[in-house]
Amino acid sequence: MTNPVLLIPTTPHADNITIINIDNPPVNALSHAVRQGVVDAITQAEQNESIEAIVIYCQGKTFIAGADIKEFGKTPKEPHLPDVLQRINQCKKPIIAALFGSVLGGGFELALACHYRVAVKGTKIGLPEVNLGLIPGAGGTQLLPRIAGVELALTMITSGKPQKVDQLDEYGIIDLLISADSSNKDHLLHETITFTKELLEQNQTSKIITQQPMTLNSEKKQAALALCQQFRDKLAKKSRGQQAPQSAVNSIENSFTLPLNEAMAKEREYFLECRGSAQSRAMRHAFFAEKTASKLMISSETKPTPTDIKSVAVIGAGTMGGGIAMCFANAGINVTLLEMSESNLAKGINAIAKRYQQAQTRGIISKEKVNQCMALITGTCEYQDLAQVDLVVEAAFETMEVKQQIFSQLDNVCKPDAILASNTSYLDIDEIAKATTRPEKVVGMHFFSPANIMKLLEVVATKYTDAQTLTTAMTLGKKMGKISVAVKVCYGFVGNRMYACYGREANMLLLEGATPQQVDNAMVQWGMAMGPLAVNDMSGIDIGYKARQANTDRSDDPCYFAPADMLVEAGRLGQKTHAGFYQYDEKTNKRSPDDTAVNLIRTHAAKLGIKQRSDISDEEVQQRLIFALINEGAYILEQGIASRASDIDAIWLNGYGFPRYLGGPMCYADEIGLETVVTTIKKFQQQAGNTYWQVAPLLEKLVAEGEKLTS
Ligand code: 3HC
Repeated sequence: MTNPVLLIPTTPHADNITIINIDNPPVNALSHAVRQGVVDAITQAEQNESIEAIVIYCQGKTFIAGADIKEFGKTPKEPHLPDVLQRINQCKKPIIAALFGSVLGGGFELALACHYRVAVKGTKIGLPEVNLGLIPGAGGTQLLPRIAGVELALTMITSGKPQKVDQLDEYGIIDLLISADSSNKDHLLHETITFTKELLEQNQTSKIITQQPMTLNSEKKQAALALCQQFRDKLAKKSRGQQAPQSAVNSIENSFTLPLNEAMAKEREYFLECRGSAQSRAMRHAFFAEKTASKLMISSETKPTPTDIKSVAVIGAGTMGGGIAMCFANAGINVTLLEMSESNLAKGINAIAKRYQQAQTRGIISKEKVNQCMALITGTCEYQDLAQVDLVVEAAFETMEVKQQIFSQLDNVCKPDAILASNTSYLDIDEIAKATTRPEKVVGMHFFSPANIMKLLEVVATKYTDAQTLTTAMTLGKKMGKISVAVKVCYGFVGNRMYACYGREANMLLLEGATPQQVDNAMVQWGMAMGPLAVNDMSGIDIGYKARQANTDRSDDPCYFAPADMLVEAGRLGQKTHAGFYQYDEKTNKRSPDDTAVNLIRTHAAKLGIKQRSDISDEEVQQRLIFALINEGAYILEQGIASRASDIDAIWLNGYGFPRYLGGPMCYADEIGLETVVTTIKKFQQQAGNTYWQVAPLLEKLVAEGEKLTS
């Protein structure tokens, strides 16, 4: 392996300045080799008497973007990052960091440990460790409050959101901000060397953040303590159940309540505790699951280059179609929206304008961007106007006849190489593809509602879809900022097929005597963003009802989704009728428990011969819903509907509010142990006496082999 750190002895026009050149693609992460390399290079530079200053510079697209996350979980090797930073701090010669790209985590901490920082405009700096269930572990919680104040440190560290250096000018983090295109790195290097030369000429050689005192007078200290408490309270809600954000606040608080060496030691303690935690393991799994999901399992020799999609059409200007059109427009792609009538088209386009307006009012999008996006969207009622588009997404009525008719018509008018995609949530896309003469160009692009907000995109390959079409749809998803996951055809694909098992158990529990609020509260307490029945009310209980009715393979068990179906037949469709599993205030839409629904379910259970029980615990609710998910996920994996367990996790994290700190259902199953999962499913099988709880053979196999779903 070549050494990722090279000491370039002299620089043009400055033979007293040396460069530590880091080249560790893709993001110059601080692997063991980089850490060792930096320490060795500093020692070498220190020993060379003709060298007076050192510049740390990176090759590739970014300065150091953090510790090497792949090394977490392995035996740590010296020098650890704090040792490297201490070496920088103690260096007799000034060290200047030349920043560009994404200066994150340990990379930002390394920059803060340097004597000076030069950055090009647009450089992003941040401490995103909380997104990995961690806190900064190499001084970030001590250095940032020292240089930029407690409030900014709390904001940046607990949100994990990087910020552009240009917006942080007033905080003194960057000593020289240069206007340059970040791709023009020669300019950055040249400016950094000029800056360093000036420092040397002016004899300004020592500026170390750790030497800056952090003494707050009593009034300021009280204010800072109160601010920390405010953050703790806010985070208890926003980052419910997570350990790292709370530890981050504690550590920042230590920066003004403890001496530096004690606070540093405490920070490392918190960091190591987080790094060894199940939450951080899960969040690191989630990070890599999302990166891996975008990679198709096609050998690199046969991997086609994706087609450049410049213009698209969306069929249907309803809520879903409108949201999909917004996704394309946001990505700078021309969209033609097709509706059956001028009035529906006008309604659809007005609704899009309103959604953009709301986003603008809330400061999410600029007026200029809204205008740009709206200019990219045009409407039509004529199929003929779609003749030249590169790709069409159909988001029309969810019946096979309607979809087949649309696809046949699209096949007639669209250019031969245009891709035809369906946004169906359940229907057999193999059958839809057959309505065309180009089944290899037909693919599913399953967006989640609201399409312009939700990150997930299931890209569904039919048995005919060719690799070029699939690659193009996946790439397009990435361009729209989606987490695209490739799946195969089956009823409900991956997400909704698993969700059906989760919903089935929620409904069974209602028949057995649990109330809607007990089921929902138990799941929210477990960590889900919302309870399944409240979600069902929000999206409309009739949607699932219609999908079940249309499914020719549906279960003939009269108990299957019996409460949901009965409520729909009683006219209780959810929020839109102000009544479903709950009741909703007509003016405020506020949800409250509804005895009528509970009584209707009780009566229905009696009709079905189900004796209700009062001993249903929250734990039973949680286990039945989550283990139903895990079991179905295992079936999906062994049937090859999903290619990897981590793909299933990426789907559940981004489309269904699964808590990130549990990593997704497959990761969670591995964490609690597959043996426990299998034993518990067998217990439910005995208890239920129905056919739903058949342990997936893959789970039994993995238990026998001592393997994991995600390994
Ligand atoms: N360690 C190891 N690999 C990393 C990495 C890291 N810190 N950051 C990114 N990568 C890998 C990705 O897995 C991906 O690998 P792949 O090509 O094999 O899939 C590759 O780098 C490129 O990443 P992206 O596709 O995400 O590239 P982008 O250009 O879209 O984004 C980025 C670049 C903004 C740097 C983004 O990757 C990112 O946010 N990375 C995470 C940064 C981070 O969390 N840093 C903190 C680490 S923890 C830490 O530093 C602890 C310290 O306090 C002690």
